[in-house]
Amino acid sequence: MTDFVFETTPKLVCEAGSAARLGEMAKALGIRRALIVTDAGLVAAGLLEPVQAGFAAASSACVLFSDVLADPPEESVALAVQAARDAGADGVIGFGGGSSLDTAKLVALLAGTDQKLPDIYGIGLAKGPRLPLIQVPTTAGTGSEVTPIAIVTTPTSEKKGVVSSLLYPDLAVLDAHLTLGLPPRVTAMTGIDAMVHAIEAYTTRHKKNPLSDSLALRALSLLGANIRTVIEDGRNVAARAAMLQGSLLAGIAFANAPVGAVHALAYPLGGHFHVPHGLSNALVLLPVLEFNRPAAEGLYAELALAILPGRSFASPAEAAEAFVDAMRALVAAMPMEQRLEQVGVRREDLPMLAADAMKVQRLLINNPREVSYDDALALYGQAY
Ligand SMILES: NC(=O)c1ccc[n+]([C@@H]2O[C@H](COP(=O)([O-])OP(=O)(O)OC[C@H]3O[C@@H](n4cnc5c(N)ncnc54)[C@H](O)[C@@H]3O)[C@@H](O)[C@H]2O)c1
Ligand SMILES: [Fe+2]
Repeated sequence: MTDFVFETTPKLVCEAGSAARLGEMAKALGIRRALIVTDAGLVAAGLLEPVQAGFAAASSACVLFSDVLADPPEESVALAVQAARDAGADGVIGFGGGSSLDTAKLVALLAGTDQKLPDIYGIGLAKGPRLPLIQVPTTAGTGSEVTPIAIVTTPTSEKKGVVSSLLYPDLAVLDAHLTLGLPPRVTAMTGIDAMVHAIEAYTTRHKKNPLSDSLALRALSLLGANIRTVIEDGRNVAARAAMLQGSLLAGIAFANAPVGAVHALAYPLGGHFHVPHGLSNALVLLPVLEFNRPAAEGLYAELALAILPGRSFASPAEAAEAFVDAMRALVAAMPMEQRLEQVGVRREDLPMLAADAMKVQRLLINNPREVSYDDALALYGQAY
């Protein structure tokens, strides 16, 4: 049997409409003055109104910080930390996509200590204590509400991660109503991100474990069965709830069985070209799946059963091929860019991207097949 360690967020509330009770939930955690960390788009979409009304109804105070930037740069995290100090916040609520949730994690961690962000990049360097933290995802998604990771863009355009068990929130609230207005393009990008979490967790070379495996399979079947529906019919609450739960399960899976080369190759696209995280993953996904297939055939065959229920296959090789073909057809059907050349990358940028991807050894070591610089360059070439 596999030995393993498994961690996750201690409490999850999955209930449509539950965000209106955040004030009450914050109070129950002992928070008297919460900083809500979010972005301007979510405020403009009106998603904070029921939350603020809920705080008022619970006679609980909250202060809004709505200046989170996508792929949060260090200086935007610093502004949020300062906002928490200025507000005298004694708790933090991350509300939004991965950018808001990751910023909120770092605010909860850094507002109460004198540690500096550049000193805690890497694994297990954060000391804490951190403020009480509630995470409310509005995309499905990064799974950041159940991961011990916060990703930041450094001044040198690298995407670096802080990894620490302190970054698990005390509570995650998953309210599918919040995701009903997510535009089709963002729905597609973030949905593919979640599917990649499930795929890479299932095929990881390190820390593969039976709990993550079960969660990844269930995540992939929920996400695969619902992603087309939520793109065509964004207000379908049942399909949105299935996507949110799928991204939750995939997040729990990869928090304990880490992702690999798709994410390693995606990060430089976000860092240098501001390609949204899910889209970066989608752009390199098929070349990496084909590259990994010889090393991961048996596992891809198992994933085929999750994404193509009811189909039977003559051999693992046939099933693995069907899995990769199904992912190719799915990505091709998504309303978003399909090639690196469509997102501002020039062919002469590929060596720089490959060199940067090689720096993401934290993730490359998990890939089922070893990736050299030449491999990375060839993979970007295929994605171009
Ligand atoms: N911590 C982790 O484990 C983890 C995992 C994967 C990715 N990430 C990070 O997460 C970030 C990406 O997060 P993301 O893909 O969720 O996107 P995001 O947070 O950057 O949001 C993308 C856009 O969608 C909008 N949006 C979000 N929810 C909406 C809603 N319900 N309705 C309308 N608009 C909405 C936002 O306003 C924003 O403009 C990246 O920085 C990435 O590196 C973190
Ligand atoms: Fe991701």
